[in-house]
Amino acid sequence: MATDVHRTVEGSQEEGESGAGGVADGGAAVRVRGLRRAFGGRAVIDGLRLDVAPGEFVALLGRSGCGKSTLLRVLAGLDREIEGHVLVPDRKAVAFQAPRLMPWKRVWRNVLLGLPGSPERAVADRALQEVGLGHRADAWPKTLSGGEAQRASLARALVREPDLLLLDEPFGALDALTRIKAQRLVAELWRERGCAVLLVTHDVEEALLLADRVLVMEDGVIAYEGEIGLPRPRAVDDPRFASLRTRLLDRLGVEADEEEGHEGEGHEGEGHEVEVEAANAGVDVAGVGVA
Ligand SMILES: Nc1ncnc2c1ncn2[C@@H]1O[C@H](COP(=O)(O)OP(=O)(O)O)[C@@H](O)[C@H]1O
Ligand SMILES: [Mg+2]
Repeated sequence: MATDVHRTVEGSQEEGESGAGGVADGGAAVRVRGLRRAFGGRAVIDGLRLDVAPGEFVALLGRSGCGKSTLLRVLAGLDREIEGHVLVPDRKAVAFQAPRLMPWKRVWRNVLLGLPGSPERAVADRALQEVGLGHRADAWPKTLSGGEAQRASLARALVREPDLLLLDEPFGALDALTRIKAQRLVAELWRERGCAVLLVTHDVEEALLLADRVLVMEDGVIAYEGEIGLPRPRAVDDPRFASLRTRLLDRLGVEADEEEGHEGEGHEGEGHEVEVEAANAGVDVAGVGVA
């Protein structure tokens, strides 16, 4: 794994701190120190520190609007209006909750979109087979089910052979059964690929099923972290799972019946979507670059 090819995303000079040098690589997949991101003077991320080891699967939880997507976009290199030090691998890929496929391009072309060079169709076909979507390579995006579109989005991330896979609530819009299948697929791909994964989710069970470590974001920092330490595959009816779940829900300050469905409101209005798309178009990490 090429975790030695790190790149520093430096804070913009106008925001103060120099952001130059100083952070040793130390073999981490992600290393963040003193990260600050403010919108109109209001800091959403403020003094955040984060390390992710190569090959580690980390889940990031936190209330809606606490800054999880903001953090992911910084790590993806889609947002550079920051202060602080951010070290991430060169090879990284992002998948969002909405698959963001270009409707006028067939699925396989979507998978290759934004890749450097002129990759062969076979590259897309291989990735689509890996996510169980080989038979839909020639389909138009609008003919895909939600689960299929999400798998196409994963294939688009995988062709980048990422050392760091950033997933922003990728299963949030899927029905329960499709969601379980998609979770299993991600677990399998992670095992096979060995890349580091940072998964943003609002689902505590999902975090506990998939991750090595769970983080809770609050007040602009990682306020809590816990190793999961349960053998895989994990089962929700394992008593140790249940006690971790209770502890984590407590930490989140969420009553059990309040857990689902608080995500997705807030900022995700049109303006923000447009802004994200614009960022994607200019940067070749999210797979939605200009062809
Ligand atoms: N481009 C933006 N412009 C202004 N405010 C933003 C922008 N992006 C995010 N925010 C604000 O930052 C806060 C955190 O947003 P976000 O990172 O999307 O939260 P989460 O993903 O945890 O739900 C929210 O209050 C949101 O309104
Ligand atoms: Mg979000």
